[in-house]
Amino acid sequence: MQRLQDRVAVITGAGSGIGLATARRFAQEGAKVVCADVDETAGAKAAAEVGGLFVRADVTDEDDVIRMYQAAADAYGGVDIAFNNAGISPPDDDSILETGLDAWRRVQEVNLTSVYLCCKHVIPHMRRRGGGSIVNTASFVAVMGSATSQISYTASKGGVLAMSRELGVQFAREGIRVNALCPGPVNTPLLQELFAADPERAQRRLVHVPLGRFAEAAEIAAAVAFLASDDASFVTASQFLVDGGISGAYVTPL
Ligand SMILES: NC(=O)c1ccc[n+]([C@@H]2O[C@H](COP(=O)([O-])OP(=O)(O)OC[C@H]3O[C@@H](n4cnc5c(N)ncnc54)[C@H](O)[C@@H]3O)[C@@H](O)[C@H]2O)c1
Repeated sequence: MQRLQDRVAVITGAGSGIGLATARRFAQEGAKVVCADVDETAGAKAAAEVGGLFVRADVTDEDDVIRMYQAAADAYGGVDIAFNNAGISPPDDDSILETGLDAWRRVQEVNLTSVYLCCKHVIPHMRRRGGGSIVNTASFVAVMGSATSQISYTASKGGVLAMSRELGVQFAREGIRVNALCPGPVNTPLLQELFAADPERAQRRLVHVPLGRFAEAAEIAAAVAFLASDDASFVTASQFLVDGGISGAYVTPL
């Protein structure tokens, strides 16, 4: 499929995981891909692989965010798609009783303030193009409570969900669609390490997934490509769950 032929897409956190899988998928679908990451080695490698442009950017830094979109516009003439995906989930963000203010603030900055900055500075570029598609990465924990809490992470993703909905409504008649992607747990190296160390904790989570497994990053990327493309022309302000059925489940199959 070539649904993104000649569209210009900027992906934050493109060096790893869901961002990297999406860079690959966007390129396969014909997009010109700008890979932004704070990790220069991983970001540059991703850009080289997909024949795109690497921009080093810390998404918590407003000047970096402005430069990132300007670099995309300078190289390719504008910006049509923004996948605001960079995020962190550090171990010192845990139960509210254990999580200190430093960890709380760091997660809010990287996961929520970054999405505010990226939307604020990409919308003017999209207005110049007469429209665009913004996909902000929230999470299924934005719509469900978890007893294995990461309190700042969950609050940040709830913020991403509410902000995306509001922007989707505000800019709908300018042809700018804004959706919140809510992935379920993804089979990433981090998750694999965590679960190798604590299989009981892994099982406690897996039992809630009707499909009986975690997602592969490419499965999340397929959903992002849909939201970015004109196939999703009537989809905006949505909470787009790609969660293997978790949020719909009461009792799962044995
Ligand atoms: N992996 C999951 O199970 C899962 C589930 C739901 C939602 N999510 C969300 O999906 C997104 C991607 O997750 P992932 O698992 O692919 O993560 P990952 O850790 O594999 O990749 C994240 C990338 O973001 C970059 N990054 C981190 N801080 C940055 C900053 N300040 N500026 C620029 N880049 C920065 C990292 O260098 C890395 O390349 C995150 O927002 C995460 O919260 C992940």
